Amino acid sequence: MKRIGILTSGGDAPGMNACIRAAVRAALAHDLTIVGIRRGYTGLAGADMIPLSRTEIRNIIHLGGTILETSRNPDFYTKDGRLQAASAIERMDLDGLILIGGEGTFHGASLLAADADTAALIGVPGSIDNDIYGTDYCIGFDTAANCAVDAIDRIRDTARSHERLFFIEVMGRTSGFLALESGIAGGAEEMVIPEEETLVARMSERIRRGFAIGKKSAIVVVAEGKTPGISFDLARRIKERLDLDSRVVVLGHLQRGGPPTLRDRVLGSTLGIAAVEALLDGRSGCMVGEVGGKVSHTPLEETWQKKKTLNEDLRRVFTVLSE
Ligand code: F6P
Repeated sequence: MKRIGILTSGGDAPGMNACIRAAVRAALAHDLTIVGIRRGYTGLAGADMIPLSRTEIRNIIHLGGTILETSRNPDFYTKDGRLQAASAIERMDLDGLILIGGEGTFHGASLLAADADTAALIGVPGSIDNDIYGTDYCIGFDTAANCAVDAIDRIRDTARSHERLFFIEVMGRTSGFLALESGIAGGAEEMVIPEEETLVARMSERIRRGFAIGKKSAIVVVAEGKTPGISFDLARRIKERLDLDSRVVVLGHLQRGGPPTLRDRVLGSTLGIAAVEALLDGRSGCMVGEVGGKVSHTPLEETWQKKKTLNEDLRRVFTVLSE
């Protein structure tokens, strides 16, 4: 292992820069040459690389986004696209490649490893959705969840002043991790997540009862699911049952930006080092993660083939507190 590359792919997540920084510092400490591949799989296919030294990674630990930029590239799901990437890896003379990203990134990496005898591939989980099997938390989740809590707190002030019902839609695609944790921390009355059936009649009745016993506001945290904007329809259906003034707020990409929290900086730093050490240990085709506070290694296929489930204890906490 002499020369390695690093890229960020899929949705950016706060803490990715902390991870890049840590990987570069660990690589240099082991006398490895490290290059950054720009714009995820799009840049990989075109061998679009920049050298990385201490200079490039200076003063980036506090920055959201990714200095390497990123992309969602469907070409990786075609054999031609992957062979193009394999040939670029050869041209760049890489012995190892660190891929920071989510499910789609690791799916692509597994297919690439199956198609071509290429560099050793190590994944690092970076996604605000926190939906990757093989790690308790993904880089970016904590920052996004804190952003959602901050939004809930602010909206609570105005909801309370007007005695209103608010629907706050958070990201998370097909997973409810962001909704669950921000819902608990923000004291939400109700939660809608893709993992569970939405029972409109029951939810309406509980909200009605809340106001009847003296509540001055109610917040429903809604996970976006497959189609962002679902809160508008839900609000309309609940409005048909309740005579309450209601509003909808879709947080959207606001949750993806901003300075990473302490947790995301620490997780990014830990996993950046772990990724380089995995390459030095001769590992390939796995994702480094953190399970129970310890660095873990999970085969890349498992990270997207297995479904990460919600923490049942936390689910129960929400239920008890929303009664
Ligand atoms: O996967 C991260 C995520 O922010 C999801 O929560 C969201 O559904 C999606 O990306 C949005 O993707 P894009 O930035 O491509 O619109």
